[in-house]
Amino acid sequence: MQYKVFSIVGLHAALAVGCALLAGCSSKVPTAQSTPATSSSQPEPAQMPAGAAGDEIRLGKLVFDETPRYAAAYVGNRLSCNDCHLKSGTAAHAAPMVNLANLFPMYNKRAGRVISLQERLQECFVRSENGRPLPDDSKEMRALVAYINWLSKDGVKGKPFEGRGLVKLPALKGDPARGKAVYASQCAACHGSDGIGEPPIIPPLWGRNSFNDGAGMNEPEKMAAFLMPNMPQNHPGTLAPQSAFDVAAFIHTMPRPKFNQAYRRY
Ligand code: HEC
Ligand code: HEC
Repeated sequence: MQYKVFSIVGLHAALAVGCALLAGCSSKVPTAQSTPATSSSQPEPAQMPAGAAGDEIRLGKLVFDETPRYAAAYVGNRLSCNDCHLKSGTAAHAAPMVNLANLFPMYNKRAGRVISLQERLQECFVRSENGRPLPDDSKEMRALVAYINWLSKDGVKGKPFEGRGLVKLPALKGDPARGKAVYASQCAACHGSDGIGEPPIIPPLWGRNSFNDGAGMNEPEKMAAFLMPNMPQNHPGTLAPQSAFDVAAFIHTMPRPKFNQAYRRY
């Protein structure tokens, strides 16, 4: 997968006023992703079926978009799936859910065996959501699976969505000191100089309401790959790869919850 670097002139000036325009960042900017998911295999919410089957899919989308509210018993922070899997899990290169159900059961490197979609979702709850495992037959799990199945209904078994996962970057070494400066000029206006954001509108990047140290996003390479096409949210696609690694290295030095080893399944 080849990643295109976009450049925008006047970025710094635009960013300086970005949040002011957002009235203190109290509403999300509906920016188009720099690498939009344009595949026709991406179903529209309006096309969800009527009736009980549709209700379960709709609940799944609510759990996905507002996880701390709709799966409160299993979430330990203030992050929703949608804060990382952008556009309700449909944005390319933000680890989208589109077609994903067609790839499970799937071999998992960490597990060293084939895992179910439910097992993969559990990992998100105990790591990214810093929460606890939810039973396979809980209404929240059933709803999430129904939503992901629905996002996969037009896909082909075994064939991944084009924008699956994150972009591939050259392996660079991040410098936290340089990253601190990147953070101050390009991120702090929204996520706060203290990194705690303004949940549920602006998600936290560190502190007790963030993901724990067992989450994929806690790996600097994965965060850099997430950032390149997706952040800063008002000008996605403008970060240089080195800056993405630097700011990820800086964020990595900040405090966050510890992964609860009692929830380690593999
Ligand atoms: C803090 C950011 C973050 C949050 C919150 C988060 N995820 Fe993820 N998720 C990631 C990242 C990054 C990856 C890809 C890297 C990896 O494999 O760890 C990923 C991977 C996944 C995958 C595998 C995708 C694939 O292509 O194989 C699934 C499924 C998933 N997440 C579901 C969820 C669900 C459902 C939630 C909410 C309950 C959630 N995630 C919350 C960051 C997050
Ligand atoms: C204009 C406001 C804004 C700016 C500037 C911004 N972000 Fe974000 N960020 C958001 C929002 C809002 C989300 C939630 C996803 C969404 O709605 O797009 C988010 C999500 C994230 C996430 C995943 C969720 C989490 O909390 O872990 C990370 C990581 C992140 N941003 C890092 C950064 C970094 C690093 C920068 C600077 C290079 C940055 N952001 C700049 C608004 C912003």
